[in-house]
Order: sequence, then C-alpha cells, then structure tokens
Amino acid sequence: GNAIETDLRKKYGKIGKVIGSGAGGTVRVICRVSDRKEFAIKQFRKRKPNESQRAYIKKLTSEYCLGSTFHHPNIIETLDIVQEGDQYYEIMELVKYELFTAVMSGQMGRDEIACCFKGAIDGVAYLHEMGVAHRDLKLDNIVMNERGIVKIIDFGCSVVYRLPFEKQIQMAKGVSGSDPYIAPEVFITEEHDPRLADVWSLAIIFICMTLRRFPWKLARKDADPSFEAFTNASGSGKSRLLKLMPRESRPILSKMLEVDPKKRVLMSEVLEDPWVKSIEACTIQNSCLYHSHH
Ligand SMILES: Nc1ncnc2c1ncn2[C@@H]1O[C@H](COP(=O)(O)OP(=O)(O)OP(=O)(O)O)[C@@H](O)[C@H]1O
Ligand SMILES: [Mg+2]
Ligand SMILES: [Zn+2]
Repeated sequence: GNAIETDLRKKYGKIGKVIGSGAGGTVRVICRVSDRKEFAIKQFRKRKPNESQRAYIKKLTSEYCLGSTFHHPNIIETLDIVQEGDQYYEIMELVKYELFTAVMSGQMGRDEIACCFKGAIDGVAYLHEMGVAHRDLKLDNIVMNERGIVKIIDFGCSVVYRLPFEKQIQMAKGVSGSDPYIAPEVFITEEHDPRLADVWSLAIIFICMTLRRFPWKLARKDADPSFEAFTNASGSGKSRLLKLMPRESRPILSKMLEVDPKKRVLMSEVLEDPWVKSIEACTIQNSCLYHSHH
C-alpha cells in the first residue's frame, strides 16, 4: 500500500482537518501540492465484517461513478478516486458551508430559504433527468458555497431508476434515507417510485428550513401522532402545517406532500409551479443580488 499512499500524498498532499462524517465515511480537507488548491476528500468506511469484498467495492464504485457523471451547478463535482492500501478515498470539490448550520443559526430569511430550496430543486430535477434518484435527501446532504449556491452531496444511497434510452421506471425496494425525511409509502409498500420519495424529502427539507424543526419524526400513522394528525380525514392537519409556510409556497408543498404517491407530483411539475419559477436563486453569474446568505 505504500506506493499508492505516496501517490495520494504526491498528488494531493497532506490530509487536513475533518469537516464531516457519516455512516459512509469521513470527509476532510486536502490541499493539492501543485497549486495549493483545496479539495474535500471522503475516506470511505471500512468493509463491514459481514460484507463481501465484491459487494463493498461495488458500493464504493457506484457512489463514485454516479457522482463523477454529474455536472450541474447544484451538484457537487466528484473528481477522483484513490486507493491507499485497503482504504478508498473520493476527491470532491470543497464547499465550505453546511446548509444545516445555516438553518440552525436562525439567521436565514424567507428569500434566502427560497433560494436554497430552488437550488436543491434544480439539482434533484437534474438527477432525475439523468435517471438517478438520490434516496437520502436531507439538510445534512446539502452544502453551500460562499456565493450562496447549494450543492447536493452523498450518492451513497442513490440508484439508477432508468437506464439511458429506456422508458421503463425501475421501482425501488427497501427503506432508504433518514427517518424524518422518508416518504410514507417507503415504509408500507413492497416497491416504490424513488423519484416520488425524493420529492417528499425535498418538501420536508423546505419545512425544516422554515420551522427549524421536523414536522414529525416518522411518516408512519401507527408510530407518530404528529404524522397521524397530518393525515386526518378532514384535511385540517395538513392545512394547519401548510399555514405555517409562506402563502405562495403552499400549493406546490401540498402536492409534494401527498401521502398517496399516485397523487404526488414529479420534479417536472415542481419546476412548473409559478412560485418555484419566480424564485430568484443565486447563480454563478449573480450571487446574492436580492438577498444575503448566512
Ligand atoms: N464536498 C464536500 N464539501 C464540504 N463538505 C462535505 C463535502 N462532502 C461531504 N461533506 C461533509 O461531510 C459530511 C459527510 O459526508 P457524506 O454525506 O458524503 O457522508 P456519509 O457518511 O455518506 O453520510 P450519511 O451518514 O448521510 O450516509 C456531510 O454531511 C458534509 O457535512
Ligand atoms: Mg451524508
Ligand atoms: Zn441566494
């Protein structure tokens, strides 16, 4: 492993401080020797004892291959994968701020929240156009740069639901994601459309940014009274939650939070919503002309 280790060091220099970690690995800053440019380096978790080498490599490769295919302002750029002994590292563009931290600071205004939401919508719409569902959308998997542009990260749970030139949608099996963000049908049906589960999670992200709390812990009527109240027959539970949201956002949020996935909107419809269309989001060309970011 030493030759490869030298390779990683030669190409990118010394690995620096930890900036985040999760179930899939640890992310640190790394500075490239040639131009002192900083990157993010994700050290993938080690293989689990009950996991075959083949399955382990397949997972890492899938995360890297998907990530490196995407080129969009609202998706993190994945640049390289490097092996060092039995460890694998993924090199990404470094983005300095966490959306979670910005939200919890309580400093984000409505325009700023809308801007971040629009960025996330554009990112997810792009993934879906590419035939990929993210399957773990949450505040922690969105980062933000100094220009207020949000980027979706972490393709560790992502799946290809449609191959290029195919029409058929591949349904997903099993539960994926983080509890409060998971769509209700994911728990109760054998198979689900992973695109619609992403749409639900996006709506939860918007609610979290606005309320600074989750509307429920788990979208299961049998397990969570808050969610049970949301789904009551009169619809009063749903309108009570929506009333806490900005008025213009209510129509599309209502459609994104349809408990029945057959009635829920796809990203193409989210993009067509008049309010979503009207959001002035920060772009590479003009950042923060209309609002500032925290
Ligand atoms: N390119 C990046 N730039 C800046 N920070 C990053 C970057 N990639 C990841 N991070 C930080 O590291 C954390 C963990 O990264 P990531 O979500 O990819 O790991 P994970 O272990 O797969 O997470 P999870 O537990 O959600 O599966 C993120 O929540 C984020 O704070
Ligand atoms: Mg993550
Ligand atoms: Zn902005």
